[in-house]
Amino acid sequence: MEPVVGDTPDVDGALRTVTVTVPATSANLGPGFDTLGLALSIYDTLTASSFDDDRLDISVSGSGADSIPTDATNLVVRSIAHVYEDVGRRMPGLRLHALNGVPHGRGLGSSGAAVSAGILIAKGLLAGDVDLEDHDLLRLATELEGHPDNVAPALFGGLTIAWMGDHGPLHKKLLVHRGVAPLVFVPGFTMSTSLARSLAPLQVPREDAVFNVSRSALLVAALTQSPELMLDATADRLHQAYRGAAMPETLRLVQALRAEGFAAVVSGAGPSVLVLADGPGTRKRAVDVADAVTDTPWDAHMLAVDVRGGTIRDRAEGST
Ligand code: HSE
Repeated sequence: MEPVVGDTPDVDGALRTVTVTVPATSANLGPGFDTLGLALSIYDTLTASSFDDDRLDISVSGSGADSIPTDATNLVVRSIAHVYEDVGRRMPGLRLHALNGVPHGRGLGSSGAAVSAGILIAKGLLAGDVDLEDHDLLRLATELEGHPDNVAPALFGGLTIAWMGDHGPLHKKLLVHRGVAPLVFVPGFTMSTSLARSLAPLQVPREDAVFNVSRSALLVAALTQSPELMLDATADRLHQAYRGAAMPETLRLVQALRAEGFAAVVSGAGPSVLVLADGPGTRKRAVDVADAVTDTPWDAHMLAVDVRGGTIRDRAEGST
């Protein structure tokens, strides 16, 4: 993920201009609470220019355009500033445009995408002066996001296992079996991640912990080698049922799909539903089941697994 650095300054006076693309992500995948995440083929694309002054010009189009702040509280800007502070460099003036494809507040990693985009923009703007390694990117992003399971796949793509090591967060990226076909049902309503997190219990019975340990281990095998195990492997006892009271339509759809044999889970903290199907035909049947069992309007998105993760391009159009 090394950015290509242009040789000449931008014609409009910018010190440097970079464009960053970051995928949507689905965290947890059922049992893998705060650990497993999957990068999906919906993207935010952001272009940022740095200037030798104090300007801050932000524009946003697409998802969240009417609600995202365009001042220094903007999450992308805070993430850029976090990196500059961490490496001891002065924050430059910025012009930033975000074209957001990732739905906001739907459990598809919009905040993780914003944080990851900011970290990658800073990496691109600082390239040649400061070199940030993958573990730095994950650490910086996790410091802002609070948990690593969305930012790891947003930064690195594919299926990621993320964990907290003695010296900070670490990740392992895995390639997903080609037979796995993700489908996401996105509702019109939103869910607050902090509310959802407050509903998950701090202590659980040991048999529930063992249940999730077994399913998480199985899910890694199912997603990489044995998709036929995905229904068993996506069962969860740590968070989904506890959060169901705050999003009953979501829990109902997950249960209805699972009763029909589909590997359906709450996507991240909800309220979207992720189905890990074993092919296009299965996805189509899942959409038919959803249409039959719920009055809630759901937007069904047939997606691919994103294998690249976040990318950085500079104005010289090099892509990494
Ligand atoms: N693991 C987090 C949670 C994901 O479920 O709270 C939030 O996107």
